[in-house]
Amino acid sequence: MSIPKSLTAAALALAMTMPQVANAAERSVVQVPPEIRLAMAEVMRQQLDALNAVISAVAAGEFGKAAEIAEQGLGMTASARYGGARFSPYMPADMGRMGGATHRAGSRLAIALQDAELQAPGEAHASVVKALAAVTEGCNGCHAAFGFR
Ligand code: HEC
Repeated sequence: MSIPKSLTAAALALAMTMPQVANAAERSVVQVPPEIRLAMAEVMRQQLDALNAVISAVAAGEFGKAAEIAEQGLGMTASARYGGARFSPYMPADMGRMGGATHRAGSRLAIALQDAELQAPGEAHASVVKALAAVTEGCNGCHAAFGFR
């Protein structure tokens, strides 16, 4: 018996959506006061903004500008600017560690971008992309493991 193509496609589409479903089920959702959830969401949007601005600056070859945005918007400086400490009491230890690690990855990205200003284009590209991936892996890792409600 042959399986119709459309069914195979549907099964494939379903399979592709499954990891997300599994992640959602495994996520630890932490109950927090509404104002903390809203404040967290705002800080998160600022970080996505910063990430976007960093990538746009890199695309324009403006590594110095990208470095500044990375430190101010994603790095350890960002953590202090956003008042990250106010969220700590609500975060399970692993979640807090992921947050800290992602801010450190942001600061390392800023350093990679500063270095990139002085490097040959090819070399700069590789180290910057690697440092960027470390940041987005941090974002993704926490979203996959934790949520606020
Ligand atoms: C330590 C955990 C953690 C890290 C790291 C993290 N996030 Fe989040 N993020 C959250 C939580 C919690 C929410 C709230 C939504 C939820 O419960 O899933 C959220 C929500 C968001 C939202 C949705 C905001 C809204 O308006 O609802 C965006 C956008 C976002 N994060 C971007 C990022 C980006 C970009 C990074 C990496 C630079 C990042 N996040 C890193 C925990 C994290």
